[in-house]
Amino acid sequence: MPSYTACQQANTSFNPSFVPTMVITGSISEIGRSMVEIIARHLNGRIHIVLVGRNKSVAEAIIASLPLSNDSTYEFMYCNVMLMKNVHALAKELSAKLPKLNYLVHCAGVFGLGGRDETEEGINSRLAARYYSRFALTNDLLRL
Ligand SMILES: NC(=O)c1ccc[n+]([C@@H]2O[C@H](COP(=O)([O-])OP(=O)(O)OC[C@H]3O[C@@H](n4cnc5c(N)ncnc54)[C@H](OP(=O)(O)O)[C@@H]3O)[C@@H](O)[C@H]2O)c1
Repeated sequence: MPSYTACQQANTSFNPSFVPTMVITGSISEIGRSMVEIIARHLNGRIHIVLVGRNKSVAEAIIASLPLSNDSTYEFMYCNVMLMKNVHALAKELSAKLPKLNYLVHCAGVFGLGGRDETEEGINSRLAARYYSRFALTNDLLRL
């Protein structure tokens, strides 16, 4: 595992010649929100970020606070990742609109203990957001 200093140096020197595209779930609170804000700030707004989440008004407030450049694109897409049908629909929409994807960040998740219960799709609800949705979204977006 690289040292923290090596990570900091790599981040500081990150200056891509292209405008990166990033899709991030769990984007409107805590860790996800911080990642959105930090990368947008670091690249002076030279990035396309798709903020995936469940609260449009919070997402819009975050977007309004992000730095702007001629190359900035910030947009919100709704998705409840508990259901795989929603994840597949999101992936379909993303595939139709994006020519490529540089970063896919899986931050949606809920911490939960206790026994097994199932979503209406019959999968373990404790793993739906933290595992199955992440695999499904990655798999569906491999072409990008
Ligand atoms: N903080 C820690 O110490 C820690 C440690 C280990 C792992 N993690 C993991 O890191 C990730 C982010 O943690 P955090 O502390 O930033 O957690 P957080 O503040 O609870 O954020 C979780 C995010 O996931 C979203 N989310 C939850 N269920 C969702 C669903 N069904 N569909 C769509 N979005 C959903 C939430 O959106 P809403 O606002 O719509 O609920 C929220 O934006 C989580 O996966 C967490 O398990 C965190």
